[in-house]
Amino acid sequence: MNKILKKRQLTQNIHEYVIDSPEVSRHCLAGQFIILRVDDEGERIPLTICDYDREAGTVTILVQSIGYSTMKLAKLNEGDYIHDFAGPLGNATELEEFANIILVGGGVGSAVIYPQCKQLNRDGRPADIIIGARNKDLLIYEDEFRDNAKDLYVMTDDGSYGEQGFVTTKLKQLLDSGKAYDCVFAVGPMPMMRAVANLTREYGVHTIVSMNSVMVDGTGMCGGCRVTVGGQVKYACVDGPEFDGHLVDFDEAIERSKFYREIEQEHKCKMEG
Ligand code: FES
Repeated sequence: MNKILKKRQLTQNIHEYVIDSPEVSRHCLAGQFIILRVDDEGERIPLTICDYDREAGTVTILVQSIGYSTMKLAKLNEGDYIHDFAGPLGNATELEEFANIILVGGGVGSAVIYPQCKQLNRDGRPADIIIGARNKDLLIYEDEFRDNAKDLYVMTDDGSYGEQGFVTTKLKQLLDSGKAYDCVFAVGPMPMMRAVANLTREYGVHTIVSMNSVMVDGTGMCGGCRVTVGGQVKYACVDGPEFDGHLVDFDEAIERSKFYREIEQEHKCKMEG
């Protein structure tokens, strides 16, 4: 059992939880995930680690309430306990070989790039960051990014905050202005990552994406996170969650994620009665 030490609402359906988990915090690295079960009958939920504090023994996760189990989790508050909290799992992000990195986060995907942003700053080589969302209310972690970024660019689709446009609008501007990035690390909705990969392919910039959103139980058993990468079958929870964005078959991944979204929607309807 792991205690919820802090809970903070970031948007209408996204909550941040700081969990007491000395074991996970001792070993985890940016890019890895945990699996939790809300109660002993709950399904396994894989969630990316957004932050950790080894001294305090805590791990931070973000939960978007979109399905039966995440809605159950959203009902827990500070002082409550999570039944299982296991990890770290998956491969850590590998950015050591790159000298000039830009991190791109869309919507809740911004949480996934945050630990890398913090790590790069800690290593004395802060990265440029672009975060974007449909509107101001859906932006997350702006202050945290500002504290750790070299330059931070904030985009909203409707122009309600920052600059109007997509994250790819800003990325293209920066690439055209001569910024010599050797790596783009992009995490967000699948169509956004596909757009980033299509753009950076033209510029020949290595691109890493996270396929964490297609994971179902995170155990390597269900097959739900199957993706085709460079013509080979890979499993996001075992082989990833991060892959070369220029090799991922996004069209196939988008089709598969629609299927699971429909199932989640059915569960949600049942839950709401
Ligand atoms: S999430 Fe089930 S196999 Fe990867």
